[in-house]
Amino acid sequence: MSVGIDEISFYTSNYYLDLRTLAEVQQTDPDKYYEGIGQEKMGMAAPDEDVVTMAANAALPLIERVGTDAVSTLMFATETGIDQSKAAGVYVHRLLGMNNNCRVVEMKQACYSATAAIQMACALVARQPEKKVLVIASDVARYDLDSPGEATQGCGAVAMLISANPRLLEIDPEVGNHTEDVMDFWRPNYRATALVDGKYSTKIYLRALKKAWENFREVSSLAFDDFSHFCYHLPFSRMAQKAHQHLAKLNKADLTPEQIEGQIEDTLLYNRIIGNSYTASMYIGLTSLLENCKQNIAGKKIGFFSYGSGCVAEFFSGTVVAGYEKYLHRSEHKAMLDEREEVSYEKYLELYRYPDPRDGSDLTIEKVTTGRFRLAGFNQHKREYVAS
Ligand code: CAA
Repeated sequence: MSVGIDEISFYTSNYYLDLRTLAEVQQTDPDKYYEGIGQEKMGMAAPDEDVVTMAANAALPLIERVGTDAVSTLMFATETGIDQSKAAGVYVHRLLGMNNNCRVVEMKQACYSATAAIQMACALVARQPEKKVLVIASDVARYDLDSPGEATQGCGAVAMLISANPRLLEIDPEVGNHTEDVMDFWRPNYRATALVDGKYSTKIYLRALKKAWENFREVSSLAFDDFSHFCYHLPFSRMAQKAHQHLAKLNKADLTPEQIEGQIEDTLLYNRIIGNSYTASMYIGLTSLLENCKQNIAGKKIGFFSYGSGCVAEFFSGTVVAGYEKYLHRSEHKAMLDEREEVSYEKYLELYRYPDPRDGSDLTIEKVTTGRFRLAGFNQHKREYVAS
């Protein structure tokens, strides 16, 4: 029996800022963003959106298909936690009308935790193959204004149904891990934006890739040449390009630069216009590959490098299942991305600065999002979510 991803759907906000606009205000060459970091647009959450509403919007098409009773566990991965105690997924469970016998838990380890959730979901399904597990990764990437990280903000959520005999991707049990206590990117409880040592974080990312790959090679029979495509954690697209060149060099790959680029380029398309979505980014990258690769990649091996600052990294592999192209949400994703609204720099600042009460004040938020679920406000320290 195989276990893996049966269905995948993502959501991002209706608003985006074009990085040309940011470059103009900052009097920076736009090519620094378009070429240098490989990003064109960044998603900005509406005032009535957060990780919960984005997650519910991402998961809705899956639950509509399989029904509210089909899922035994909901795992919610995020580094934009909204509560120290209550799992954000419990709100999603209610918004989607899921069965009270479905357990819910939240996972945290920076951008890595969705991968931990998937591995644990695969283990649960291997134990009870008739059950399905819903893994949702949802994040809003926020850095300080005028900091080097600002252009790498973004937001998005991805929902994946993990099942036996999956229709999209069979996940192999062998994984390579690397964990190391480093301070490259973190967000203390009292801060709304991340602290990051940018250049150092890119070095640690590459070091963790080497270490995780070496560990993978010890446990798996697969070598670099066995993979047709690679999905990387995507803080910005250029990071994946650098990482893949690094891995190809480590393996003395006999490929042209174009062939190396061709192994990742379809994974980058959505990220370039959404921005970093932390835990969701690598899986939105997988969606981008499955939905945009011109060749049929059924039967091909995909390599995955998941990285969470701090840091925990994992290299794992999967095989694309024959017929996968029939089970994608390509047209819905395209429509969602095409219908987004570009915002001015002033509007971007307004969205960035929208109040996020941390002192317990009450707040009513008017309806802005075009998504199905929204955050209606804060009342007596409680977040109030509704379907719109
Ligand atoms: N035309 C073309 N390219 C240009 C250019 C121009 N006019 N101007 C600059 N560039 C190039 C630079 O040469 C550079 O390329 P290389 O990296 O190949 O040398 C690139 O654009 C970026 O320029 P800088 O290095 O000057 O950029 P910066 O220092 O202002 O910011 C950054 C880069 C430090 C990565 C910053 O974006 C940042 O801090 N980002 C947040 C942290 C991050 O994403 N880290 C990634 C690893 S950690 C992780 O993955 C977890 C996570 O999700 C956060």
